[in-house]
Amino acid sequence: MAKISNWLIFLILISTSTQTYINEDILKECQVPYTVKNITRTSQGIVAYASFNPSSKLISDQNKSHTIQKLTINITYETSERVRIQIKDTEHSRWEVPKVVVPYNQTTFEPKYDVMIDEDPLGILIIRKSDGKVIFNLDPNSLFSYNDQDIAFFNILDYDIKIMGFGERVSNLTLNRGEYTMWSRDRCSPIDDGNNPNGNMYSVHPFYVAIDEDFKCFGGFLLNSNAMTGFVGNSYVGYRTTGGIIDFYVFVGPTAADVVRQYQEVIGFPALAPYWSLGWHQSHWGYNNLTIIEKIVDLYMRYKLPLDSIWNDIDYMTKFEDFTLDPDRYPHEEFLAWIDHLHSLHKHYVPIIDAGIAKQNYSAYNEMIQKELYIKDPYNSNPADGVVWPGDAVFLDWFHPNTSDFWVDQLIGFYNLTEFSGIWIDMNEASNFINGDFGHPATIINSTTMPYTPGEDINTNSLDVASIHYGGILEYNVHSLYGFMETIATNRFFTENLNKRAFVLTRSSFPGHGRFGSKWTGDNYAKWEYMRYSIIGIFNFGMFGIPHVGADICGFIGDTTEELCTRWMQLGSLYPFARNHNDNQALPQEPWAFGTNMLETSNMAIRNRYFLMLYIYTEMFFTSFSGEMFFKPTFFSYPYDRILYENVINHFMLGKSLIVHPCLWKGVSRADSYFPGDIWYNFYSGARIKLDKTYVISLEMPLHGLINIHVRGGSIIPLLDSADTALSVEELRNSNITLLVALNSNLEAAGRAVFDDGISSGTINEGNYTRMDYHWRFMNYSTDILDIQPINSKYESENEFPHISNIKIYGCSSLPKQVEILIDNRVIQGSIINDPGLIPDVCKIEISNSNGNFSPNRPSQVIFRY
Ligand code: NOJ
Repeated sequence: MAKISNWLIFLILISTSTQTYINEDILKECQVPYTVKNITRTSQGIVAYASFNPSSKLISDQNKSHTIQKLTINITYETSERVRIQIKDTEHSRWEVPKVVVPYNQTTFEPKYDVMIDEDPLGILIIRKSDGKVIFNLDPNSLFSYNDQDIAFFNILDYDIKIMGFGERVSNLTLNRGEYTMWSRDRCSPIDDGNNPNGNMYSVHPFYVAIDEDFKCFGGFLLNSNAMTGFVGNSYVGYRTTGGIIDFYVFVGPTAADVVRQYQEVIGFPALAPYWSLGWHQSHWGYNNLTIIEKIVDLYMRYKLPLDSIWNDIDYMTKFEDFTLDPDRYPHEEFLAWIDHLHSLHKHYVPIIDAGIAKQNYSAYNEMIQKELYIKDPYNSNPADGVVWPGDAVFLDWFHPNTSDFWVDQLIGFYNLTEFSGIWIDMNEASNFINGDFGHPATIINSTTMPYTPGEDINTNSLDVASIHYGGILEYNVHSLYGFMETIATNRFFTENLNKRAFVLTRSSFPGHGRFGSKWTGDNYAKWEYMRYSIIGIFNFGMFGIPHVGADICGFIGDTTEELCTRWMQLGSLYPFARNHNDNQALPQEPWAFGTNMLETSNMAIRNRYFLMLYIYTEMFFTSFSGEMFFKPTFFSYPYDRILYENVINHFMLGKSLIVHPCLWKGVSRADSYFPGDIWYNFYSGARIKLDKTYVISLEMPLHGLINIHVRGGSIIPLLDSADTALSVEELRNSNITLLVALNSNLEAAGRAVFDDGISSGTINEGNYTRMDYHWRFMNYSTDILDIQPINSKYESENEFPHISNIKIYGCSSLPKQVEILIDNRVIQGSIINDPGLIPDVCKIEISNSNGNFSPNRPSQVIFRY
């Protein structure tokens, strides 16, 4: 009886109650109901076979007809820093997620972990060698199930952890104890405190980073696309999924940044975004005709506001039919003339495409029907019929071998019609305004065999989960992959047909997405709270390997206010993907919407991004090159500073060198701000922050001013001089550069910059870039040296980034008396200027433009004599 009641308690706790925590005692009172029969150990891993043991504790009320009887356990030591645990049905094949994992080369290495396996009952233990900590414990005496539609396993530790990850949702960064549903769903940003089973949103990322009491981290990733729950306890973390297999990775860390890199080595480092897509974007649902959208761009020009791309929501379509342009509201010839005009201004056009194809007599629909490329209704093999903006709509089956080609062909036609530069794919959860297929009730696929549902009925706002894909694959298994697979096909259009980097912005994503596209966090609200949550959303997607991410700036749903929108422009102009967008029911919120003050502040904010554009581009390059984080919690850079784990949104790091303290509160214009123990200079003035023992300083946060950015001592940052005047990032490519050198306590500094054409695909693989490293060395009290050296030098272009115009030194004690620049065995003198506008400890050396060849991307050495 005790066994039955415990299992029932477990089910009740995780399915219905509002207090949904499982408690550690219950977890530990169970037993893994499998016994290992046969083990083979090699230097590359462990293979074991296990059988169901019907006399195990706590399984009495399971529906045994659905229990998998024999399991094959494959533990692979894939790299020195990660282990893969695959547990599969020995006798039958089951659904496995395709296309996610990057192939790896197994080389010889010394693992940073030990792996042990228990036999009766089954147990798996992974210990990090460096500190002897258990980082994965499938405890033989814990709850485990491997049934057809109910697979659960837990990592139970004897120390406390905090968990980040388990996306997508609006939540704290470190998750509260509770349960977290993962299943793609079109839902407008509910807040998920761990106690909201319906808090799941557009994307699915079953990855976590665990932080222990000593601030050491490890990670876990379940590669599984079925509807599932992630469990977070004080000292455990686990999964319960409704299908698929256990394909689980353990990452040793030991820092959060290490875990993120180790994870991205599995799912692939993100693709480089096109240079222009890192600029400033304007969108609105409601640019109802060409005249309106033209006017928006004209106003950007009139107000001398930089703009890189203008977006069209569903307003351009004929009756919401994908790949069409409404002939009345967007007449084709005039439209193309406008696109030419945009291009002449170095601006880009990005239209939306929806997942649901209108069930109308038009070419895309007719062709897809004729080629049978649709997801099928389970009862009659007709196209599964949902309802979206056009009314009745059908959905492409990305598993059909011809769908990707069909999609690319449609994009080719649409490109001829509209000459877009990027594509925005929306509603691709795939969203359906009804539950299940039109014409019959949604199939309850889980009534007898699936003892619980993660969140609400999985048919909610989905096609019927019994709908059928090519090869008999059920929507039930692949629903959460729709956006991911659509992104892969859309990416193909750019890389294969245009031979360019893709810019694909999606709403739904899955692990591996970053290799193909970017992401925005969907429908947020024009509320202060949502501006604050946006920071966590961006942190999360950085961890998920999708660094090119942003939230709708100023808020999507509801009317924004001048103060909120101004603050959001200050913050959002530093998002990796920076776009102002809102709903057609909400008031306009373009930068001029509230008059001159917000207009000027927005202009400063966008230009601030422009000053930093080469730095941003370079730091984003390293997300793709080596899995670094760009927009990240400050503790990623200072992992052992306890205080940084509190109030994680009050500050964040942009790359290696910049800390940002945004203003996130209504009516606030000054705030106590914490800095990690280091040397920090005000980015704009060079004033060094004087920190006392509290490391807290009160910062002014003027509403009509610039956001607080400070530079870490020890950094060198290239700044683009033309940011003052440029109206697009393209114009910045001809800009001279000021090298900002911020000295550390050893009077040294280092930095880097990457130069490439910003648009070709394959830049990293083919090495078609120039990477320069800058090093400032203190030699003695009369000499400093700045070395500018290439690490890679395959990209050269005559007119781009022509000169280093100035060297600005933060933390210098006196102006040098002489500056000699050595380039190609020639010596050039720099002119030292005593700029009265500068504060003490800031030195500026102006390099005359006639001294050509002193460029940020060619080798040189500069000697400063005092
Ligand atoms: C939902 C998207 O999230 C939103 O950004 C868009 O404006 C609307 N669909 C209309 O297309």
